[in-house]
Amino acid sequence: MPTAFLHIEKFEDGPVWTIGYLVYDTAPGEGIVIDVPMWSAEKIYRRVRELGISVKYIVATHGHWDHIGEMAKLKQLTGAAVCGNGADEWMMRDPNGMVIPPPEKIEPVEVKEVLSDGNELLFGRIRLKVIHTPGHSLGSICVYDEAAGVLFTGDTLFAGSIGRVDLPTGSMEEISKSIPDKIMTLPDEVKIYPGHGPDSTLGRERVENRFVQMMFAERG
Ligand SMILES: [Fe+2]
Repeated sequence: MPTAFLHIEKFEDGPVWTIGYLVYDTAPGEGIVIDVPMWSAEKIYRRVRELGISVKYIVATHGHWDHIGEMAKLKQLTGAAVCGNGADEWMMRDPNGMVIPPPEKIEPVEVKEVLSDGNELLFGRIRLKVIHTPGHSLGSICVYDEAAGVLFTGDTLFAGSIGRVDLPTGSMEEISKSIPDKIMTLPDEVKIYPGHGPDSTLGRERVENRFVQMMFAERG
């Protein structure tokens, strides 16, 4: 249930259907972009110009190449500051050296502003809080708009599933703490926008997501 001034547009692109989000407020004309899939930068930039907004930040939910595919290009086009958690910075500096390499060469990107748990991103009339949710990778973050009841979950939590934990710095133990302790403690009404696949709500995931249920069941 987004508030009157929070606007969200999806850009699903790249070889593994990654979703980038343009999040903005029209009145002061400011926005941010959360993840930039391969082949999406020009499409996002075209929309930004159409809306006449300025992009303040480009946020990486984590460092995997499908989420930062054209981050360097969008940074060049918009002049926005690239933000992400420090623990995934090494992946963003060397996206082509990953265990599962990208199908096309990716331009590395440097993190200008390091985001830690509790940091806030302010743009327009919007305040987004950073929640550090290690597990899919050590530097995975979710971004939360408490006023609007909206959570961008990256590859940590999907509709009906969770992010894989078998890539470098991934940890089942960590994600099994991050999801119950840091995400599922938020209200059921919160709408989630993941890095892949359809949207959902936390209430729905509490009932339908077997991975989430397993995490709670294992705690007894
Ligand atoms: Fe990922």
